[in-house]
Order: sequence, then C-alpha cells, then structure tokens
Amino acid sequence: MDYRAYYRKAPQMSFQDYCDAIAAAQGIDPQATARTRDAEGTIPGEAREKLFNIAAEIKNTFHEFGAPLPPLLEGCTVLDLCCGSGRDTYLAAQLTGAAGKMIGVEPNVERLAIAKKYLAKEIKQFGYGEGNVEFVQGAPENPPFLADGSIDVVISNCTFNLSPDKAAYIAKVRRVLKDGGEWYFTDVFTDRRIPQETSDDIARVAERLGGALYINDFRRLAQAAGFADPRHLFTWKTPLTEAEQAHYPGIAFATITSRLMATDMTEDVCESYGETVTYKGTLPDYPDYFLFDKDIKFPTGKACAVCGNVSGTVGYGSRYAAAFEMTGDRSQHIGDTHGDHIIACAPDFEGVVDEDDRPIQASCC
Ligand SMILES: C[S@@+](CC[C@H](N)C(=O)[O-])C[C@H]1O[C@@H](n2cnc3c(N)ncnc32)[C@H](O)[C@@H]1O
Repeated sequence: MDYRAYYRKAPQMSFQDYCDAIAAAQGIDPQATARTRDAEGTIPGEAREKLFNIAAEIKNTFHEFGAPLPPLLEGCTVLDLCCGSGRDTYLAAQLTGAAGKMIGVEPNVERLAIAKKYLAKEIKQFGYGEGNVEFVQGAPENPPFLADGSIDVVISNCTFNLSPDKAAYIAKVRRVLKDGGEWYFTDVFTDRRIPQETSDDIARVAERLGGALYINDFRRLAQAAGFADPRHLFTWKTPLTEAEQAHYPGIAFATITSRLMATDMTEDVCESYGETVTYKGTLPDYPDYFLFDKDIKFPTGKACAVCGNVSGTVGYGSRYAAAFEMTGDRSQHIGDTHGDHIIACAPDFEGVVDEDDRPIQASCC
C-alpha cells in the first residue's frame, strides 16, 4: 500500500477553497463538530486560570479539545498552526511571556478575523508589546513567511487530520523548528486506515474523523520527515455518535497528545550509550515527576539509566535540558536498549560443514 499517496489528497479545488470548504462544513458553531469538550486535566494547570483573560467570543468559537501546551514556553517563539479564532494562541501567549513571541496561522479569514479583533485588548491586558502576538493568514502546509529553523515550539489542536497533504504539513513543521525544537499537538488517530472514499470526503474530514491518521502511518510520515521518535503523552477515546459508529464499522478512534522533537540526537529505535538523566522537579505542574510519554515518568531526584532517545529529547539542545542533570555522552555505544537477539543468539560454526563435509571455520564476511 502506498500510504504516502493515500494521505495526499488532490481535491478538485484550490488549496484556499479546500480550507474554506472545511471551515464552512464545520460551521461557526464549535459544538457541531468538536470531538470532545474540555475536561478536567486536558488543559495544563498553569494555563487553566489564564482562560479567564481571553475574550468570550474567542472561547465560544474555539473548535477543539484541551490545550496542547507543553511546559517551559517562557521566552519561546511558538507557532500555533491553524489557530482558528485564537484561543490556544492567546493561552500560550500568556506562557511565552514578554520575552517570547506567539504566531497564530490560520487559512480561514472569518476565524482569523475573530482572533485579530481582540489583539490590541489582549496584549494590553497581558502587558505585552505589539510584536509579542501576531496572526497571519496562511496554509499550514506552506506558510512562506516562516523562515526555516525559526520556531522553538509548534502547537496544533486538531488541524493535522484536516490537511490534504499530511507529508507536506509535517515536513513544514520539521523545517520551521529550530534544532532541539518541539511539535506538541493534539489530534484524532485511528487503529487502521479509513477507506479511501471516506477519507477523501470533505464533509467527513470536516467532522475530524474522515481525515484521522492511522497511528502507524503517522509514525512512518513523522520518521520520513526527520522526527525519529514520536511519543504519545495522553490518549482519550474519541466519542462517536451512533451514526458515526455505523459509518466507521470496526474502526477505533482516539484523541492523542503527542510530542515530536526536531533533533538528530534521536534514532528510529532506542540505542544505549550509558547515559543517565535526573529530573530536578522544576517544571510547573510536575513537581514529582517528568512525564516523558504515556508509559514513562521520571521521578524527581532519581538518576535513571536511559536510552539515547530520552537523552536526545531532554538534553542536547532541548529546552528541557535545564530541568535535568545528565551523565554520559555519545562516545560509547552499547547497542539496542531492548537487547539484540539476532546477533547475540547466533550459533557459532561448530558442527557446520560445507558441501564437501569439511568443518566451516569462518564465514564469508
Ligand atoms: C478543528 S479547527 C481547530 C482550530 C483551532 N486550532 C482551535 O482549536 O479552535 C481546524 C482549523 O484548521 C483549519 N483548516 C482548514 N483547512 C485546513 C487544512 N487544509 N489543513 C489544516 N487545517 C485546516 C480550519 O480553518 C480550522 O480553523
């Protein structure tokens, strides 16, 4: 199966028309297509109270779920890809602080207009200067105004699954990120590929289901774009109506928050280099542990032996490095963390003979 072609739609319309058709199908009423409403724990504690500083119209036209906001945004340049009417942009802006910068990109002019309408009022309230928050109209697959390697963190909230060219979208995210930068996002994934005609149907895509990615294809696309080791932090079952369930028989959907680091210090499998990391307990909301992914927590103050994908994520130029002490480096390679089976278990040549029944003393290479 050419999964790349499957995720590259060729709509019979311009890209802008496609984006507008998605927005029109979703309508201005967020309840119509939002998959899940905010629930306890889906917005980080440090951001939750900052919701009160955001205009009601922005919150009422917010279309998605939770808030994909990683820790340590202070001073960062953050891009909110497909920001809609800007709720997450304004939330994140309060975390980047006056030393940081927030850029919201959105293809749909009506939604962007709502975000822009409150710009002067919001930045005054946050105590920021004009340049701290910016909204730009553009397609996520090709925002030409963003220089490569210019962004510390990309966030996106249920927009990737709308894209008609997911490989281009993810490649763009990888290119705009600085070395050590992070893509932290929430989106809807599936446990198998959705039938092609459904995934090509704009109305189904606008409902956030038709364009949902098969989770293994997401990993393939991510790795092809240079994100070697995508990690998933939070997962929630995506609620479906009975009619939707009938339309997607046997397909399971989940809303997942993922972290992808833009670094050459991670690899496609976990390799050991004899490194350890000790979490200092300094992140807001995480005094007791660092949540690396949904299966792995690093307790505060405990030196943990880790693979290169962990040290590559939290060290070596990552903004998380300040929250960790590390030992070791990459000078010594100890092999696959999960153990090598083919080589370690290979039998020696004893008892192996050639076609003339002579014992084999050596292999050909
Ligand atoms: C589900 S809404 C989420 C908006 C915003 N992140 C929020 O949380 O309210 C998806 C956004 O993606 C935009 N969009 C439209 N076409 C798109 C495309 N081709 N690729 C990605 N996003 C697209 C829509 O205009 C819409 O604002």
